[in-house]
Amino acid sequence: MIRYLTSGESHGPALMGIVEGLPAGLKLAESEINRDLARRQTGYGRGGRMAIEKDTVRILSGVRWGLTMGGPVGLMVENRDWANWSEKMSADPVHAGKAAPVTRPRPGHADLTGMIKYGHDDARNILERSSARETAMRVAVGGTAKALLKVFGIGVHGWVREIGGVSSGDIKGAAPSVSRKAENSLVRCPDSSASAMMVERIENAKKAGDSLGGVFEVVVTGCPPGLGSFVQRDRTLDGLLAGAMMSIQAMKGVEIGMGFEAARRPGSLVHDEIFYSAKKGYYRKSNNAGGIEGGMSNGSDIVVRVAMKPIPTLYKPLRSVDIVTKKPFKASVERSDACAVPAAAVVGEAVAAFVIAQVMAEKFGGDSILEMKRNFDGYVEQAGRF
Ligand SMILES: Cc1cc2nc3c(=O)[nH]c(=O)nc-3n(C[C@H](O)[C@H](O)[C@H](O)COP(=O)(O)O)c2cc1C
Repeated sequence: MIRYLTSGESHGPALMGIVEGLPAGLKLAESEINRDLARRQTGYGRGGRMAIEKDTVRILSGVRWGLTMGGPVGLMVENRDWANWSEKMSADPVHAGKAAPVTRPRPGHADLTGMIKYGHDDARNILERSSARETAMRVAVGGTAKALLKVFGIGVHGWVREIGGVSSGDIKGAAPSVSRKAENSLVRCPDSSASAMMVERIENAKKAGDSLGGVFEVVVTGCPPGLGSFVQRDRTLDGLLAGAMMSIQAMKGVEIGMGFEAARRPGSLVHDEIFYSAKKGYYRKSNNAGGIEGGMSNGSDIVVRVAMKPIPTLYKPLRSVDIVTKKPFKASVERSDACAVPAAAVVGEAVAAFVIAQVMAEKFGGDSILEMKRNFDGYVEQAGRF
């Protein structure tokens, strides 16, 4: 079983991650992970923090001379802003009271319910951990999963489909080339005319002190049929992917394949018919199922789309209530993104990669890459003969 934990606050010294269950002998390089950390920091509409944080990962354990040893892999991403917060976020009680408590909960955030739930009268104790800063470590964790999937020829690609009501046209072509196009766009969208309109929409929202959400898409290529299962419903691949995607801060909806559109059409216009040829084996001419049937990968590309709500911190402040005075106030804003959908697509890739790595390990698991690869190759050969 592969699993992970993250730890760390938004303005603490660092984010930490532990990934357990990676097989021994896997090539793991900080530079590969750093590439995705840098991608997470790009995208039109990001606020001031991105200028401060230049995220890089340090692999602290579990890897020797570029290869995993089989033990837990420890990861660290330092918060460059720590110097300004070392007393305000200190673990040492001598610094208690060095920062005024945050008593004004922000709408759309964990602040108010978190204070009620954990019994804090300072929202900082909530917002520091609930913040999407945590996604930097999730991208690093997902980087280890991507490294594992690469061994099996599985790729994970994410891009933006929609921002503030502007949609891309149909996305055609193989995922790696679509992804390359998207990486050249300011908003990580492979459709260049839609990209320009999205940038304009973000610019207008910024001017109005507002924020925008959108939809990103993640496509996983190269999965063999049979990842996930129908035998217990908590093992369904679509269920696992949807749950993982919804765990990302600000995500409010998930579609697999045709998704919600399937609910509007008759069955004859939804289900992917099955064909066979000696050369290709079993195949389908369409992929409305988004690569998952009966809770299992069916061998087609896995296609997941995720809806992100607009960033809740607005320069045009929303109304809330001070928890001490119980008086209304309009939230004051320090700094915030106007739109983070392009960054969220990178987080989505990482999160999807981790789920696919988990189901791969469940099906082909072994203590070493050698063992896992042998199990994988044997199954692929067996499936090809079916
Ligand atoms: C990549 C990314 C960046 C984000 N940046 C911000 C931000 O700058 N300001 C903000 O208020 N919310 C931001 N959010 C969203 C909040 O973290 C999220 O809405 C909040 O924690 C409440 O969680 P919920 O929306 O899942 O209920 C971001 C989310 C993601 C995925």
